[in-house]
Amino acid sequence: MNLPKSVTIVEVGPRDGLQNEVHFVPTEQKIELIGRLSETGLKRIEITSFVHPKAIPQLQDSEEVVKRIQRKPGIIYSTLVPNEKGLERALASGVEEIAFFVSASETHNQKNVKMSVSESLKGFHNIAEKALTHGIRIRGYVVTAFGCPYEGRIPPEKVEYIMQEYLALGVHEIALGDTTGMANPVQVSRMVERIKPRLDSMGLALHFHDTRGAALANILAALQGGVKIFDGSIGGLGGCPYAPGASGNVATEDLVNMLQEMGIETGIDLQKLIDCAKYAREIIQRDLPSHLLHAGKICWKGA
Ligand code: COA
Ligand code: ZN
Repeated sequence: MNLPKSVTIVEVGPRDGLQNEVHFVPTEQKIELIGRLSETGLKRIEITSFVHPKAIPQLQDSEEVVKRIQRKPGIIYSTLVPNEKGLERALASGVEEIAFFVSASETHNQKNVKMSVSESLKGFHNIAEKALTHGIRIRGYVVTAFGCPYEGRIPPEKVEYIMQEYLALGVHEIALGDTTGMANPVQVSRMVERIKPRLDSMGLALHFHDTRGAALANILAALQGGVKIFDGSIGGLGGCPYAPGASGNVATEDLVNMLQEMGIETGIDLQKLIDCAKYAREIIQRDLPSHLLHAGKICWKGA
């Protein structure tokens, strides 16, 4: 099997995971979760969003979170930014990385940010330079890149078009999101084969939700295509308890376990990660779908 020697994990639980939780998690506990994640060996953590507080009430404390977390040297802490107002807030709080996001589906983009895809991209053109001149690097998400609950199939040309726009903006990395878990490994393999040679210096990250149980299989397909950056959410946090079927990203600890067992280096302490998942379960006061949280680490020496 042709696999990379090492992989970078981007922890998105404090943002993508928590954003769907209906009950407000106190700011103090968010900060504590980010602090504990910072001790696991993770090098990148997406911590919150500067979106409209009415759109995502759970993350209305983003200023406080960004200002109050204890930054560990060597870790990049990132926040989501949808527009100019979001960038202003991010700049005022002090961040080193931001993430733009646009949907490959017009309907999803309208519902998510009340803009067409081209309006979103035009908005980014107006603010990317400002971010870059402040030394802030930019990740560019393409969400619903593999399928959309409203529009169904997404033509890969749409993803390529957005990728070209991001390239022109100077983003350092593009992240393809399977937002509602519609992708399969063959589709992932084809997408990676198609776009990877055209990325230039831009990195490629993949962001899988485990809605239908295919996230790890999709990651394996992407690994074989040479992808080396994957998102995970601690405990598999995410999805809405009031929306049947909604689900979070692949659990970071399940992903790290699989990679380490395959001999792929992540630089992460798996037990510390499992302890973080336990803490995440404690603060949201419900069980989480992570496998490792229930089964624990593999013990090759036996009991
Ligand atoms: N943060 C805080 N307030 C914001 C804001 C931001 N990023 N962007 C706009 N606003 C404020 C404006 O200042 C304005 O306030 P005012 O009425 O007091 O003047 C008001 O919101 C309306 O501005 P407008 O530009 O018309 O925003 P909108 O209502 O069209 O909403 C978004 C657009 C993008 C801000 C909103 O849809 C959003 O935050 N979506 C995020 C969804 C999300 O996070 N999804 C999950 C990630 S994939
Ligand atoms: Zn997501």
